Amino acid sequence: MNPSFAAIDQGTSSTRLLLASAGTAPQLSLALRNAPQHPRPGWVEQAPLELLAKVEACLQAAGRVQAIGIANQGESCLAWDARSGEPLSPVIVWQDDRTAQQLAALRAEGVQALTLERAGLPLDCYFSASKLGWLLRNDAGVARAHRAGRLRLGTTDAFFLDRLTGQFVTDASTASRTSLMNLASGAWDPTLCALFGVPMECLPAIRPTVGDFGLYRGIPVTASIVDQQAALYGHGCRAAGDAKITFGTGAFALALTGAQIPRAPTSGLLPTVAWQIGAERSYALDGGVYDAGSAVEWAGRIGLYTDLSEITAFGAAPAIARGLAFVPALSGLACPHWDRSAAALWVGMNAATTRQDLCQALLEGIALRTAQVVRVMDGHIGAAVRLRIDGGLARNPYFCQFLADATGRSVATRRFDELTALGCAALAARGVGQTLETPDDDDVASLFEPRTAPADALAWQLRFAEAVSKTMGWKRELSA
Ligand code: G3P
Repeated sequence: MNPSFAAIDQGTSSTRLLLASAGTAPQLSLALRNAPQHPRPGWVEQAPLELLAKVEACLQAAGRVQAIGIANQGESCLAWDARSGEPLSPVIVWQDDRTAQQLAALRAEGVQALTLERAGLPLDCYFSASKLGWLLRNDAGVARAHRAGRLRLGTTDAFFLDRLTGQFVTDASTASRTSLMNLASGAWDPTLCALFGVPMECLPAIRPTVGDFGLYRGIPVTASIVDQQAALYGHGCRAAGDAKITFGTGAFALALTGAQIPRAPTSGLLPTVAWQIGAERSYALDGGVYDAGSAVEWAGRIGLYTDLSEITAFGAAPAIARGLAFVPALSGLACPHWDRSAAALWVGMNAATTRQDLCQALLEGIALRTAQVVRVMDGHIGAAVRLRIDGGLARNPYFCQFLADATGRSVATRRFDELTALGCAALAARGVGQTLETPDDDDVASLFEPRTAPADALAWQLRFAEAVSKTMGWKRELSA
């Protein structure tokens, strides 16, 4: 029998297909790697047609399902031609920092109060807005298409949907990541569009997360959502305060807050749309660490280990307890620091330091950065956030145990951990009036309990915070 639902998880590092039906175990049936390009320091790009071909390969492998859902990588965006559908630019990935200086200048003019008030977001090149404006100002082909009335600008979901189903649309969760959507109205905000130089008429229509996204070869696409929000749904988070952390390319903690827009302007957390079902929008708070899996991959690329199995256990005491720290700021620092001019750093090496030590510190640095986000989230929610985690690093026992120690709470991994795709499939099922089960709190593969004395964990945090402060502003001096 054909599976009922197909979910495509089009993430930064891979494109994955999950097939699912009510009452049977979901299956990950395809995973294709995506290779980002780094044409200049700080620039991160992907080829739109390559991503589209991978999405189509997944859809073809899915066969005749009842409904399709597509999860996207959030803020990554591009320009394309309205008539031919041909890309006019690469995908500029969310990690790309080409607009950092422009945004620093706007911040100095005091403009951030406006973006915080309307989009809920700080002035950071993470979000699509400044990149879309950059494309129009810097790419002659994009500017020409605009003059000819043929320009489309949007996040990757809008490009895929336009090409796959002929609908030029995005969903409210993805639109909330652009810094062009007014969080209160759920519509594009003319003042924000003017601020970033993004012509509003070139943007897609904003739709609910579950609904009609058109037909792909006769099969309805019934859900489109940001991957992080999909994972929140996939973990079974439905009540305010429910939270998850996904360790993909970056690490993103999201806590559901309910029907009211959460306001957290000084905490560094981002208010975001979790999903919109019918007219009802649910919101979440989001705290991100830009580099998690990407830092681990980079360490492999530069030869610090050859196989991931080499970095799942370490004989020595924690590196941080031995004075060795790594700050994973390869793409700068997000929550709560918001400093794109920060750079990655190891500090505390001596002549006896080994590659293994560097890897141990690297894993600990990702966990300690995550712990910083979790602390801010605790403060906002008013309770210790419960840690349900997924993604590549959730399969590394050293990392999970260290995260439990650094945050002083249990860390739960799931038995089935393709939770972005599962959440997306469950939303697609809702789109055709069906229910696909997501895990409940008993559905735990491993529970890691903290084993470190709170005073030691606090000492690690303080040491790590010192290392973080050394990285901040580092690149600002270079570009001055
Ligand atoms: O905000 C970026 C995020 O949604 C990308 O997720 O899994 O590709 O790291 P991932």
